[in-house]
Amino acid sequence: MTDVECHPYLNQKKLADFCKSKGIAITAYSPLGSSDRPWAKPGEPKLLDDPNLKAIADKRKKTPAQIILRYLTQRGFVAIPKSVHKNRIQENINIFDFQLSPEEMKYVDSFNRNGRLLRFESGSKHPYYPFHDEY
Ligand SMILES: NC(=O)c1ccc[n+]([C@@H]2O[C@H](COP(=O)([O-])OP(=O)(O)OC[C@H]3O[C@@H](n4cnc5c(N)ncnc54)[C@H](OP(=O)(O)O)[C@@H]3O)[C@@H](O)[C@H]2O)c1
Repeated sequence: MTDVECHPYLNQKKLADFCKSKGIAITAYSPLGSSDRPWAKPGEPKLLDDPNLKAIADKRKKTPAQIILRYLTQRGFVAIPKSVHKNRIQENINIFDFQLSPEEMKYVDSFNRNGRLLRFESGSKHPYYPFHDEY
């Protein structure tokens, strides 16, 4: 088991395929895009406000958070979102009464922008740092 940042803007496809081939389960941290993190840049796109995600949510009569969590769960990730609100905690667990179609899964895959929200400053001396694009 390992945990890495993962959400539709950073879908970690290559790493997920590698881990799957080795039987390693992944916990997706910051699965909802960590919208309350203090270092978010002003004007940065917020995953939970993504209009394409909202369109799927509206069609499914679910919320964007539920679509993200269902997407991650169907991909085999463990997703543990954080909320301090009881109604959201209930909402976030209520994702087992529907399934995203293969087309919807592919569509959410296409939201990937290799956009990492959580910096890995301690790895900044690594030859391959930052391993990703910034927003
Ligand atoms: N191992 C690591 O290095 C590491 C690093 C980062 C995070 N994590 C773990 O990952 C988990 C979550 O990380 P995170 O807090 O960065 O990000 P997150 O779960 O992606 O996002 C949390 C944010 O989303 C909001 N939210 C939660 N449910 C929502 C809903 N249904 N609708 C709308 N907004 C919703 C929360 O607000 P409210 O609270 O106001 O509802 C909060 O602002 C935690 O368990 C954390 O410990 C681990």
